Amino acid sequence: MAASSSSSSSYSTSHLLLLVGSCLLLVSYFAVSEAYTTPHLVKGLSWSFYKNSCPKVESVIRRHLKKVFKKDIGNAAGLLRLHFHDCFVQGCDASVLLDGSASGPGEQEAPPNLSLRAAAFQIIDELRELVDEECGTVVSCADIVAIAARDSVHLSGGPDYDVPLGRRDGLNFASRDATVANLPSPNTNASTLIEFLATKNLDATDLVALSGGHTIGLGHCSSFTSRLYPTQDPTMEEKFANDLKEICPASDTNATTVLDIRTPNHFDNKYYVDLVHRQGLFTSDQDLYSYEKTRGIVKSFAEDEALFYEKFVHAMLKMGQLSVLTGKKGEIRANCSVRNSDNIQLKTVVEEDKEASAEL
Ligand code: HEM
Repeated sequence: MAASSSSSSSYSTSHLLLLVGSCLLLVSYFAVSEAYTTPHLVKGLSWSFYKNSCPKVESVIRRHLKKVFKKDIGNAAGLLRLHFHDCFVQGCDASVLLDGSASGPGEQEAPPNLSLRAAAFQIIDELRELVDEECGTVVSCADIVAIAARDSVHLSGGPDYDVPLGRRDGLNFASRDATVANLPSPNTNASTLIEFLATKNLDATDLVALSGGHTIGLGHCSSFTSRLYPTQDPTMEEKFANDLKEICPASDTNATTVLDIRTPNHFDNKYYVDLVHRQGLFTSDQDLYSYEKTRGIVKSFAEDEALFYEKFVHAMLKMGQLSVLTGKKGEIRANCSVRNSDNIQLKTVVEEDKEASAEL
């Protein structure tokens, strides 16, 4: 009896343990699955948009970018930044690619875009050509930029993720003032950045995660020398500041330096480790650690790379859907730097087609 009572009590104890264990598992399942939630898909975008019209678009792009990055991995940074500068100004409509016209200078001529890499624009043109050879002109330049940004992250060591597709290209570029107003300066502090990103429906976690894009690439002296001269920013680690002073002996030096001193070409969470060690390059980076509302997020990403990747992908999917044109809006540009109605080559082909059908 005693034996049976002890076995029944150990039976119920093990049941209880099992129950607690299952509850814990359930809780952790929900915590993880919540971290993986994909943001709401904007109407008109889909995960399989080119399934019939251009099923190989993503493999064509990836194959080419692998070759490009083998020669110069710096181009991954250039392409990632291009997507950000496209999406923040007038939405992800490839307006950043448009050349200026009689109506005014293009977005590329506005100060924050002057440091976009020329090679990034050239690579998008190459991709446009390769994708057209494969399927004709059915994929938008804005989608090519979004896929190229994803591949830049993944091919430099970061997470791979699906990109919703179906964006259309804008017919107009933004003014210089609108471009400047929508791309924050590197001297912006975290609380101002939070307020500004809120206007784009991005929260503090999105801000910290997206800033992790600075785990690859370069910055020019002019983007951070106000932290060195005339007085040194006290939040900057001493040796780091001295090294930067050697690279940029004066505020107007035209040199560049890496954004992530630990692993400058690898898409990882070391950017956050830099911030914890007060080695962030821009005020907009370092203040994410100085500011109490974002400090905990920075620390959690510095400690947990998988968490950073999850939040980065989530934020990129949100950013990549900002004010997109879908359906019959906009167009699919045949040449990414010129809208179709201004495309002389396209006009000639259309005219020739018209003439040929008139002759028939
Ligand atoms: C949060 C506000 C942001 C500010 C203030 C900012 C500012 C800057 C600045 C000033 C540069 C260097 C420009 C130069 O001196 O040449 C830069 C480079 C870069 N940014 Fe940002 N950025 C921000 C957000 C982002 C986001 C959201 C991404 C992508 C997810 C991103 C990706 C990059 C990359 C990859 C580079 C290096 C580009 C290259 O090497 O060509 N940035 N950023």
